[in-house]
Amino acid sequence: MQELMLKPTIFKYDTVKEFVDEFKPGKGDLVITNEYIYNPYFGQMNLECDVIFQEKYGAGEPSDDMVEAMYKDIKGEHKRVIAIGGGTVIDISKLFALRTVSPVLDLYDGKIPPVKNKELILIPTTCGTGSEVTNISILALNSRGTKKGLAVDQMYADTAVLIPELLEGLPFGVFATSSIDALIHAIESSLSPKGNETTRLLGYQAISMILNGYKEIAEKGKEARIALLSQFLMASNYAGIAFANAGCAAVHAMSYPLGATYHVAHGESNYAMFTGVMKNYMELKTDGEIAVLNKFIAHILGCDEKDVYEELEKLLNVIIQKKTLHEYGMKESEIEEFADSVLENQQRLLANNFVPLDRDRLIKIYRELY
Ligand SMILES: [Fe+2]
Repeated sequence: MQELMLKPTIFKYDTVKEFVDEFKPGKGDLVITNEYIYNPYFGQMNLECDVIFQEKYGAGEPSDDMVEAMYKDIKGEHKRVIAIGGGTVIDISKLFALRTVSPVLDLYDGKIPPVKNKELILIPTTCGTGSEVTNISILALNSRGTKKGLAVDQMYADTAVLIPELLEGLPFGVFATSSIDALIHAIESSLSPKGNETTRLLGYQAISMILNGYKEIAEKGKEARIALLSQFLMASNYAGIAFANAGCAAVHAMSYPLGATYHVAHGESNYAMFTGVMKNYMELKTDGEIAVLNKFIAHILGCDEKDVYEELEKLLNVIIQKKTLHEYGMKESEIEEFADSVLENQQRLLANNFVPLDRDRLIKIYRELY
């Protein structure tokens, strides 16, 4: 049985300059990034690479329309694709390392075989997706009103580069949603039936780093995060390796219709589902890995195991306030629709649930969170 798959070589540098000295971005490289990241850190270096700014092709999370629009604008041959950005930039860049990208719906439907013909270097500038070490690219398929993940080994990066300096300008809101996403990667992968002692070694370490970081921020204030950026970036990377191997599950699956329909940031829509899913797992099964996890988290929070989700929510609410689903605009009539959409589109994730959740259970969870 496979214990761990880790494709990219991982580098860590304190500063952008150290990375540039080592990797020498230049002719033949396509950099996919955002202007507000590229200009302050790389703008003065006059690098000769082709640069494309993702935000010119639409705001928010990655979509099929965004990929098609970028595809039309990318000219010339490239040997390396270098992504510098958050989840959107990184997920999209994985597609551009493939020989054929368009029509992107055909790629996602398996009608175009994914063939990688460029070297791929991924540099995350948020501390959440862990996407630099996964083989998944998740797109909102606008024409279908949901999100879909394409997970194939051709989309593993050759290299992932961690540079905490790049996170210094991250607004608190993005720090919050991305790091909660990482926490949920660590938790879902640790509970996954595909988890093993190696993935849980990384998952539990990420949970500890993130929750202890949150405790410090809750105590000292938002600015305290700046000194913790390296810790959060590493935690996100560990959680990424854990879920690349053991998978995410119902929290992610159930958050996709909400995120896609109401344009809620990925980490925030996950948080909206998170404790609702955990409490329902506990109604179905209280022993096994969930008991280990609850004990681990209760120890970090200094609380009783039976109060662990209430106490966790109290801490997380300091970072980002949890909302009910109707506060995002969701309609009551969508409860069943969303449950059916999850069953139809997210079997890849539902397979990793701690315990199976049927249609009635999905409806119950949405209703409780509504
Ligand atoms: Fe995620």
